[in-house]
Amino acid sequence: MKTQYYTATSIDGWIADDENSLDWLDQFGAVEGMEDHYRQFVDGVGALAMGSTTYEWIVGHEDLLEHPDRWPYEVPAWVFSTRELPAVEGADVRFVEGDVAPVHADMVRAADGENVWLAGGGDLVGQFHDHGLLDELILTVAPVTLGSGAPLLPRRITTPPLQLVDVERAGDVFAVLTYTVERSGDHGGREKLWDEVEPAD
Ligand SMILES: NC(=O)c1ccc[n+]([C@@H]2O[C@H](COP(=O)([O-])OP(=O)(O)OC[C@H]3O[C@@H](n4cnc5c(N)ncnc54)[C@H](OP(=O)(O)O)[C@@H]3O)[C@@H](O)[C@H]2O)c1
Repeated sequence: MKTQYYTATSIDGWIADDENSLDWLDQFGAVEGMEDHYRQFVDGVGALAMGSTTYEWIVGHEDLLEHPDRWPYEVPAWVFSTRELPAVEGADVRFVEGDVAPVHADMVRAADGENVWLAGGGDLVGQFHDHGLLDELILTVAPVTLGSGAPLLPRRITTPPLQLVDVERAGDVFAVLTYTVERSGDHGGREKLWDEVEPAD
């Protein structure tokens, strides 16, 4: 069971633009391989979490208050907000606020051995990382730069660095990068790699 941040991002690390728009992403339409990639990912997910901006975007974009049957997820979703948000009829949405750690424990229980998906935004994912609860980043990197917007992951993660474990390509559009998050003091294979490099004279 892993806790995964699966998202699309611009090259310069923004997951939405200043207007919370994803037009820059939607312009690519159906890119060969991406639907299968997403399906395969979602098949392994047993619970998901998102912040209120993301939830409100989904609700507005899909017109879910009028068409609740369009709710896109089959697993329980935890939505973080300090405000009272409209519920989508029939959708398993649990509104929560505050410390992410107890919520993560509930999510893991509900996922029952399957993965936990942190859908975003970046700071919410950062809150899970702050508690050592983030295992993996799966980033679909779109060939655009935005300059500003909603940040991918506004945290400093340098030592140990993320470990690149997979690189895939979808058409001539997306690079899909998978990174694992190493725990402090657990440098695993990365340390071994450095040990093997002979220092230059
Ligand atoms: N590119 C992609 O694939 C992708 C993926 C996901 C999201 N997105 C987009 O990226 C943008 C992300 O927006 P965002 O950066 O504002 O992040 P967000 O996580 O969607 O929303 C942030 C808001 O969630 C609430 N929140 C966060 N942590 C909380 C906590 N611990 N307790 C209670 N409330 C909490 C706060 O709002 P309140 O308390 O005021 O409600 C906070 O302002 C959205 O436009 C979304 O549609 C893109």
